Amino acid sequence: MQDIKQYIEQHKQRLLDELFELLRFPSVSADPKYKPDVLKTADYVAKKLSEAGADHVEICQTAGYPIVYGEKIINPSKPTVLVYGHYDVQPPDPLELWKTPPFEPTIRDGKIYARGACDDKGQFYMHVKAFELMMQNGSLPCNIKFMIEGEEEVGSNNLGIFVKANKEKLKADVVLISDTSMISMEHPSLETGLRGLSYLEVEVTGPNRDLHSGVYGGAVANPATILAKMIASLHDENNHVAIPGFYDEVIALTDAERKEINAAPYNEEEYKKDLGVAELWGEKGYTTFERTGTRPTLEVNGIWGGYIGEGAKTVLPSKANAKISMRLVPNQGSEKITQLFTDHFLKIAPPSVKVKVTPHHGGEPAVTPTDSIAYRAAQLAITESFGKTPIPTRGGGSIPIVSLFEAELGIKTVLMGFGLDSDALHSPNEKYDIFNYYKGIETIPLFHKYFAELSK
Ligand code: BES
Ligand code: MN
Ligand code: MN
Repeated sequence: MQDIKQYIEQHKQRLLDELFELLRFPSVSADPKYKPDVLKTADYVAKKLSEAGADHVEICQTAGYPIVYGEKIINPSKPTVLVYGHYDVQPPDPLELWKTPPFEPTIRDGKIYARGACDDKGQFYMHVKAFELMMQNGSLPCNIKFMIEGEEEVGSNNLGIFVKANKEKLKADVVLISDTSMISMEHPSLETGLRGLSYLEVEVTGPNRDLHSGVYGGAVANPATILAKMIASLHDENNHVAIPGFYDEVIALTDAERKEINAAPYNEEEYKKDLGVAELWGEKGYTTFERTGTRPTLEVNGIWGGYIGEGAKTVLPSKANAKISMRLVPNQGSEKITQLFTDHFLKIAPPSVKVKVTPHHGGEPAVTPTDSIAYRAAQLAITESFGKTPIPTRGGGSIPIVSLFEAELGIKTVLMGFGLDSDALHSPNEKYDIFNYYKGIETIPLFHKYFAELSK
């Protein structure tokens, strides 16, 4: 432990400078205009993995953005850890809300502000630097493989093909991911589950062109109004999702599970204050942690139609659109839920409009074991570096690879994230505390140490 701390102290500035360099690449996977930047980011990651000491570093092409692979096999009879992360980031919009530009990392108050600072560049890069540290002080206790992808934020659509085609290459005893949150630095935690996702887009079309809202208004259905009504009807008065069959596969939590989930520290006043809301909202009968970690939900991610420019224009729009996603919990399947949504949405459309539903992407929910050697290793590592035993929590976000690795390779995952929910992932002014970055680099070698020891 002492040599770990010493290494970090000695290389403090460089560890930060390199992360800053990585954060300067605008690797937005959703928007094709950033394609050259996304590709450059993959090159940078590959270069850094090689420099840290990885062998067989490869930029593996896919139908989309490449996957960066690298490995260090010290002894084939030792256990192998597969580290997964993503070098792509969410779009930075709305740009005008950033205090400093998203791709010019800036430190304020001990925190690094940049798109991807926490999700996931700051977090996966801790693994690259922890690996460098273990290579430098000769303490790498097990084999390590890296797989850093570039399409996580757009659904990892090409990853399944890659995983299926590279089963031997990706063989490992555990997948280790830092792409989730902790409760707080005072309350370190380990996520033990992730929700799945069904993402789709809907389009409601009324008249064959935009109309003068005075000449035709009142005589022709307004697609924006119809869409708003259709969307509003997707939740009932208790905020349950009102799609027939939506909850059919959901497994009720046991009393013990509920107890464990609700034992995690939670301050409702602070939660509301952080978000600037006067009251919380959600499915009746469930607590906030249950709502975000264990219950399926439906959200509108964007809604538009008609005139949204400066000033006023009197128009009855021809079309209205929305992007809708549903978070899924264990035993629900994304394809089935996408189908249920589609059938229902087409059914509730009045004859005055035409409705089109286009699926985007999906991902399956996952729960990770808490009785495994790898989970125990993560517990020990965190206990040593934070001085506190981590609390198990259920995460509300999605990382499609987790269920895929289990289904295709039979490998379970440990979610050892060091972010905070308040790090503004996907929001303007995303940040990552410098403290968390170094703490991660300190904790990761301990994970490898305990994992190797417990595997004996
Ligand atoms: N790192 C997040 C997921 C996450 C965040 C899990 C915080 C737990 C806590 C990941 O990059 C992400 O944003 N995933 C997407 C899913 C993807 C299919 C677009 C998500 O959850 O919206
Ligand atoms: Mn992420
Ligand atoms: Mn993300």
